[in-house]
Amino acid sequence: MKIVKTVSEIREIIKEWRKAGYSIGLVPTMGYLHAGHGSLIKQSVKNNDKTVVSVFVNPTQFGPNEDLEKYPRDIKRDSELVQSLGGDIIFNPEPEEMYKKNNATTVKVEVLSQKLCGVTRPIHFAGVCQVVSKLFNIVTPDNAYFGLKDFQQYVIINKMVEDLNFPVKINPCAIVREESGLALSSRNVYLTDEERKSALSLNQSLRYAKSLISSGEKRASFIIDEITKIINNVPYSKIDYVKIVDIDTLDDIDTVENRYAVLLAVYIGKTRLIDNFAELS
Ligand code: PAJ
Repeated sequence: MKIVKTVSEIREIIKEWRKAGYSIGLVPTMGYLHAGHGSLIKQSVKNNDKTVVSVFVNPTQFGPNEDLEKYPRDIKRDSELVQSLGGDIIFNPEPEEMYKKNNATTVKVEVLSQKLCGVTRPIHFAGVCQVVSKLFNIVTPDNAYFGLKDFQQYVIINKMVEDLNFPVKINPCAIVREESGLALSSRNVYLTDEERKSALSLNQSLRYAKSLISSGEKRASFIIDEITKIINNVPYSKIDYVKIVDIDTLDDIDTVENRYAVLLAVYIGKTRLIDNFAELS
């Protein structure tokens, strides 16, 4: 396993891999890896000859008052995990390597990027699409792996790949949770012990919503109210949104049938957490 810092070096390696006929999987991350990232890496290692894990805290997807500076970083621990899972390369460029001073090109997926998390994070998905399209052009993967934890990101990346004809297959990966039900996230380290207890309300409310739907409840507004009650009932919580949407358009739906997602964004103290469950078929 090798850590590569420059675009030119990784391009040389990819060229050799292509000559040898290897298939390539890419797992884009911002590092501080946990078992959620690990599950993406495992799938890539299983289904491709070579796996590149990018570790890059992408400045263009953070708003001015967000946590770019304090976002957790630990490249030594990340490389141990990637090595143990059989990854071949960590691509870990500095911001100046990825963005030249006179960078003038952006990639924006209209409409979808303004909904849900896009309301409180208006530049976020343009930054995500910019860096992911650069990574696709640098690594030229056959397969790329994205977690359903970031459901809106997954939908937007699919749209970008379709609209811009990127020759890559996007593979969705299930949400990995702690035993407590809390979805793994690099941002969970920000939570105090008390806040962590409150954070369990996200998954608890989703599980309750799932049980309502399984027992025949179809009214989105009723389900949203029940979720809201559970989350508002714990200390430190402040709901950003609770939505039930169509998984292609991300538009609100009134009646829950098939191809829907129940999505939450909640502040627990100062930490903004997201969680969801989706019915993709
Ligand atoms: P990051 O938050 O590091 O997540 C990297 C990938 O891991 C994403 O596809 C995310 O959905 C997935 N992931 C995170 N937590 C997960 C969990 N608990 N279960 C399953 N998958 C999980 O998402 C980003 O980075 C960035 O926006 C990026 C795409 C790298 C662009 O900068």
